[in-house]
Amino acid sequence: MSAQSLLTNAALAAFSLVAFVVGKLLIHSISAHISLRHVPGPASSSFIWGEEWNLYHDAPGSHYLEWHRQFGKVVKFRGACGHQILSITDERAIAFILGAEGIYKFPKPDGVRAWFQRTLGEGILWIEGKEAHEKQRRSLAPALSQQSIRKFTSIFYEMSGKLSAQWAKLLDDSGAEEVEIEVTNWAGRFALDTVARAAFSYDFDLLSGNPNALAEALDGLTNNENKLSSFYMRALFWVFPSILSIGKKGEMIRKVKAELGAIAGKMWRDAKTSMDPHSTEGDKTLMALMLKADADSDQQLREDEVVAQMRTILSAGYETVSAIVAWVLYELSMNSGLQERLRNEVSSPGDPSLDEFEKYPLLNSSILETLRLHPPVLENHHQAAETTSIPLSAPIAGTTASQLVVPKGTILFIPVNVLQMDPEIWGDDAHLFRPERWLDPGNKPNLFAFSEGPRSCIGKKFALAEIKTVTATLVQQFSFACSYDIEAFQSFVIRPRIQGQGPSSLPLTVRRV
Ligand code: HEM
Ligand SMILES: *[C@@H]1O[C@H](CO)[C@@H](O)[C@H](O)[C@H]1NC(C)=O
Repeated sequence: MSAQSLLTNAALAAFSLVAFVVGKLLIHSISAHISLRHVPGPASSSFIWGEEWNLYHDAPGSHYLEWHRQFGKVVKFRGACGHQILSITDERAIAFILGAEGIYKFPKPDGVRAWFQRTLGEGILWIEGKEAHEKQRRSLAPALSQQSIRKFTSIFYEMSGKLSAQWAKLLDDSGAEEVEIEVTNWAGRFALDTVARAAFSYDFDLLSGNPNALAEALDGLTNNENKLSSFYMRALFWVFPSILSIGKKGEMIRKVKAELGAIAGKMWRDAKTSMDPHSTEGDKTLMALMLKADADSDQQLREDEVVAQMRTILSAGYETVSAIVAWVLYELSMNSGLQERLRNEVSSPGDPSLDEFEKYPLLNSSILETLRLHPPVLENHHQAAETTSIPLSAPIAGTTASQLVVPKGTILFIPVNVLQMDPEIWGDDAHLFRPERWLDPGNKPNLFAFSEGPRSCIGKKFALAEIKTVTATLVQQFSFACSYDIEAFQSFVIRPRIQGQGPSSLPLTVRRV
C-alpha cells in the first residue's frame, strides 16, 4: 500500500468514526428531545452555550428562581452544544431521585465524576453503584458519628481559639480600636486545619498565619476569578469530560491532585509507622479506622485508595465549611442587633460541651438560616443511567401524566436555592435573613443544603458542631461590621466577594467587645 492510500484510509476511518459518534449523539438527542418536548422552559439563548453563559455570569441561582416561578416545578433548559437539562423542584420527584430506590439509577453526571476523579481520586464523591458506595460510606461513618464528634469538640475549640488569638494579635499589632480583616482566607485556614486534625490527627498549622502552598494550590483551582477558561470548563465538561485534562486548567488540576496526594501519602505512611493499629481501640478518627482496616484484612489497603479518600474528606470539609463560616460572619456583620443577642446567648462562662449547644437556640437558628440563604452547594447533579420514569406530585402544566419519563443520559439539576427560598414553603419573607423563623412554633420545613437520602452529606453533624464552635468563639470576643457591597459568586462552592470581579473576599471591620 502506498503512503498516500494509507493516509486516505486513515482519514476515511477517522471520518467514519466522527460521523458515527456525531450520528449517535444526534439520534440520541433527537429522541431525548421528542420525549421531553412537553416539558416547559426558557427558549435557548445561545446555540453553542445554551444557558451556560448566563448561569455562569449572573447571580448564582437567580435564573433557577426565575424559571421555576415562570414554568413550574420541572423546567427544561439547554446546556452547551444543545444538550438538555431538567431542573427539578417537585418534592415527589426529588424524594424518588435521592431516595434508596432512585439514587443509584441517577448517578452523578459523567463530567462531575470526571472532575472528582481528576482532582481527588476514586473516593466517596466519585464512587457509584450501591454496593461499592455503601462499602465506602460504612468505612467513613464511625469517624463522623455524633459520638465521635463529641470527642472532636476540644479540637473545634482549640482551632477556634487559635483563630481568635490571631485576630486579637492583628488588633494589638495595629494599636487601633478596629482592624479590617479579610475573613475568607482565615475561614479557609480554620476549616482545613480543623478537618485535618479531627480526621487524620494531622496539624497543617495554617492558622499560624504563614503562607501555605497547599491552601494556595486549592484556592487556585476552586476560588475562580471568572476567568474565561473557568467558564469554558464549566460549560463544556458535561458534554466533554476530557476538557478537564487540557490547557492551564488541566495542568492546575493535576498539580493540586499531586500536591494533596503527596501530603496525604506522607500522613498515611507516618501514621503507619508511628501508630499501633490495635492500641488505638476507641480512637475513632478516620486515620485510626483506616489503620485498623489495613492491619486486619488479609489484603492491605492500597495507598492510592487511602489517599483518594483522604483528599476527598479534606476537600469536602474545607470548601463548604470555609464558605459558610464567611457567610455567617457576613450576615452577623449586617445585623448588629442579632450579633448582640447572640453574644449574650453564648456568653455563659467556660467552654460548653457539645450537648450544651442544644441550649443555644439563636446560634443554631442563625447557622441554619445562613445555610438556607447561602447554600455552598448550589445544585445537586444527577444523570439518568437508563431511561427511567419519575413520579411527580402534580402533572406538568398542559399534561395529565403523573410520571415523567426521563431518557437515558438526561442531566438533572436540583436547585437548592429555589427549594430553600420558596415562599410557598418559607413564607413571603423567604428572601430575608431571619433566624427567628426557625424558633417559631409549628412545623419546620427541612433544610436542603446537605441534600437527602443515602448520599446526603455524611459530615453534616461534624460541620454544624464545628461552625457553631467557631461562631460562638468569635462573637464572644469581637464585633463585626462590613462597609463593602458583597455579592455571591459561583466558584466551586458559592462564596462571597466584593462586588465585581475577583476571587473570594470578605473584608470585615473587627473590634474587641
Ligand atoms: C456546611 C458544610 C457542608 C455542606 C453544606 C455540605 C453539603 C454536602 C452536600 C450537598 C452533599 C451531597 C453532594 C451531592 O450529592 O452531590 C455532601 C456530601 C458529602 N459531604 Fe458534605 N457538606 C458540608 C460539610 C462536610 C464536612 C465537614 C465533611 C467531612 C468532614 C463532608 C463530607 C461529605 C462527604 C464525604 C460527602 C459524600 C457522601 C456520599 O456520597 O455518600 N461534608 N455534602
Ligand atoms: C436546631 O434547630 C432545628 C430547627 O428548629 C431543630 O430541629 C434542631 O433540633 C435544633 N438543633 C439543636 C442542636 O438545638
